[in-house]
Amino acid sequence: MCGIFGCVLHEGAHAAPIIHSALKRLEYRGYDSVGEVTIDNDRLTVKKDSGRLEEVHAKYNLDDLPGPVGVGHTRWATHGRPVYENSHPLVDCKSRIAVVHNGIIENYLEIKKELEAKGHTFQSRTDTEVVPHLVEDYLSHGMSLEEAFRKTVNRLEGAYAIVLTSAEQPKTILCARQESPLVLGLGDGEYYCASDFAAFLPLTRKAVLLDEGEMAVLDPKGVKILKLKNAAPVKREAITITWDPESAKKQGFRHFMLKEIHEQAQALRDALRTEQVYYDQFSRKIIEADKVFIVACGTSYHAGLVGSIALAKIAGINARAVIASEFSEEALDLVTSKTVVLAISQSGETMDTLNAVRDAKAKGATILSVLNVLGSTLMRLSTVYIDQNAGPEIGVASTKAFTSQIAVLLRLAATIGRKKGEVSAKEISELENALHKTPALIQSILNTKVEDVKKIAEECDGASSVCFLGRGINVPTALEGRLKLLELSYVPAIAYPAGESKHGFIALIEEGFPVIFVAPNDDTHKRIVGNIMEMKDRGARIISIIEEGDEEIRNLSDRVIEISESLPSLVTPLVYVVPLQLLAYYLSVIKGHDPDYPRNLAKSVTVE
Ligand code: G6P
Repeated sequence: MCGIFGCVLHEGAHAAPIIHSALKRLEYRGYDSVGEVTIDNDRLTVKKDSGRLEEVHAKYNLDDLPGPVGVGHTRWATHGRPVYENSHPLVDCKSRIAVVHNGIIENYLEIKKELEAKGHTFQSRTDTEVVPHLVEDYLSHGMSLEEAFRKTVNRLEGAYAIVLTSAEQPKTILCARQESPLVLGLGDGEYYCASDFAAFLPLTRKAVLLDEGEMAVLDPKGVKILKLKNAAPVKREAITITWDPESAKKQGFRHFMLKEIHEQAQALRDALRTEQVYYDQFSRKIIEADKVFIVACGTSYHAGLVGSIALAKIAGINARAVIASEFSEEALDLVTSKTVVLAISQSGETMDTLNAVRDAKAKGATILSVLNVLGSTLMRLSTVYIDQNAGPEIGVASTKAFTSQIAVLLRLAATIGRKKGEVSAKEISELENALHKTPALIQSILNTKVEDVKKIAEECDGASSVCFLGRGINVPTALEGRLKLLELSYVPAIAYPAGESKHGFIALIEEGFPVIFVAPNDDTHKRIVGNIMEMKDRGARIISIIEEGDEEIRNLSDRVIEISESLPSLVTPLVYVVPLQLLAYYLSVIKGHDPDYPRNLAKSVTVE
């Protein structure tokens, strides 16, 4: 979703190229238009248009904008199509105030009408444009820029991160947030604000978190934080971001997604390093809860499904996984002050997940979370959180975050299982030992199976649809394989619990229809063999992810990817998903798409 970066640099410095590079680091969030504004000699200069960053740069040369202070924006359209007029920054009538925004201003129509009646003219169809005009209006009543900004933001309803620059105070940037992400960076006499740390990671690792309902003033003297409600000053300690700036670069890989697939072994090792004390805290709260809900979106929801099954199987915990955007309809009525909501979110900024958490919190629920971005809104809403420790994930399609989420959830289930004595200590130890083997196993898939997966991808090119089937703990793996494939290759894909496939899906099968089975050698093996035969008999082309040495399924399949070790069933999704990630990646590349930036999708979905 929208990406914001603003900077106040030393006198004489040139902000434009720095903004350009920062916007490049924010591209992964997903966007359809780009814009920048800088201030020099008390004049604002704006360049913007729809299109990708480098297209807009080729057209306008973003780097020759003058001056040491400026703001850049990548927009993911919500109000108003992605065209020039609706791109940010948006300005007031006199082009003296420029504003960029991430989020949605719900009451913009009412404010717009009021301002139009006063003679303001609007150039765009965005909700954002009311902001510079309202500030302009307050300034005309003699208010200071800071006061006019604060008053304006206090009139807005909805979710927003807003950044403003103005020729009135050319060395200052003002920003505010409510529900949408915004963080501040402290350089050496230079100051930044951005949608996420990645934007300023090569410039500084010192950051200050802006809370909801707060605004900040950035100028050459430093950063000042105020409460939006009453302008009360806020003291906030800086934090040091532990991410290595190098880790947010491609490091020789063609795409971020491929790099992140390859980073999974390390990401898992890092995830498994989290101290046991956090799992113990989670366990206590979950065991004491009257109900447990897992909430998440997209890939994180699939990890949540794995967690839900694992908690049932080895911890005797009924934790229902609910898609976050449906939480208020499906589950909120059941939430009490004794309920635990376990939120899973790589970014910690997905609006639907945050809304579910806020709703549950309002009813007194305890919020536990598994997240990858420290300082994120979810972290701040949580009673206790576990850091996945996966490092920055840039590819829109989540890969290493998924496998590390599963590792965390399995360790959590094992901790509770051990505490409750639900299954034998031997079984728990086997699972824990297997978890520690997964990094090496994933590495061996990456070392030895890529060519096999590429061949399967070539054979799937041309298919009008692909189906993924699994059973038990690998139903979520099948769902995840399907999500990856359809979002990156734009091939309609289907996923089912294999047993359910005969209740409808089987009608689609005709000669050569690719059906991919996630089929480890666990308790479901016998039944999945039956499902493979049902599909094969009707002409499906069978591709199976199996344990090495599984002759029965190998003989029934047109192609197999073999996993070299036997694993406890619960651990298999972690490993069996890797060939499916690779398949989606290579099919996307074969089709000439960019797997890092699938169309219409965003990494961090910060609107409802
Ligand atoms: C978007 C991304 C997905 C991600 C989902 C949830 O849809 O494209 O890759 O799984 O959001 O994101 P979260 O940050 O909450 O895990």
